Amino acid sequence: MREKIVAANWKMNKTLPEAIELVQAITFGLSKNAVSCKVVLAPPYIYLERLVNEVQNIAFVSAQNCSNQTKGAFTGEVSTQMLASLGVQYCIVGHSERRAIYGEGNEVLKEKLQRCYEQNITPVFCIGELLEERNSNSHFEVVAKQLQSTLFTYTATEAAKTVLAYEPVWAIGTGLTATPEQAQEMHGHIRSLVATKFGAEVAENITILYGGSCNAQNAAGLFVQPDIDGGLIGGAALIADDFLKICHELR
Ligand code: PGA
Repeated sequence: MREKIVAANWKMNKTLPEAIELVQAITFGLSKNAVSCKVVLAPPYIYLERLVNEVQNIAFVSAQNCSNQTKGAFTGEVSTQMLASLGVQYCIVGHSERRAIYGEGNEVLKEKLQRCYEQNITPVFCIGELLEERNSNSHFEVVAKQLQSTLFTYTATEAAKTVLAYEPVWAIGTGLTATPEQAQEMHGHIRSLVATKFGAEVAENITILYGGSCNAQNAAGLFVQPDIDGGLIGGAALIADDFLKICHELR
């Protein structure tokens, strides 16, 4: 069964009191008015433990990143074993900000996926093209290459434990959302690549989220597309009412 998910990527936002206020507003909203999807919250590392306690069984908690190493002398890094020991069940891997600002390439991202699988943490693996790549009509190929050197080096069993997030880089934080048609076209492409590599069953069941300026106004149009199984939400996830509205649009 393909799981429907709305995930919040808080990025480097919110002080501790603000984070607690936000998570409490979200869990209160979800407990009053249940949604039919899974809700996943990805706060900064330092709030993870607190959030695991706050969300109880109403939502799930994700890290925004993890180390590609298992343990040892890697100052400033956080391992998936540490995340698992807190009860963190998801981890965003390969967000375009990690790729562009921190230079994370496919080799490192492939290792991060492995670290997640080892600890039974579900990676939310982000892929997506730059504006120039879309303008030069190479977006399908770019996304295929991102998958070939990372997820597609694993087995079908591991692939089945992965959530994909298609995030066109030109739509992230820009207010420029992909149209539902553009997003559906790419999600269909991604699902067909997964089918060719891992078979129809894995492809049918894998969750593919859309991310990039998805908000309370445009979520409904995106979420009704047959290959869009939810969203990875940045800016609009920082306001409880907006985020709750988005969660309710996923049916
Ligand atoms: P955005 O961010 O919703 O603010 O565009 C999405 C993301 O970066 O995951």
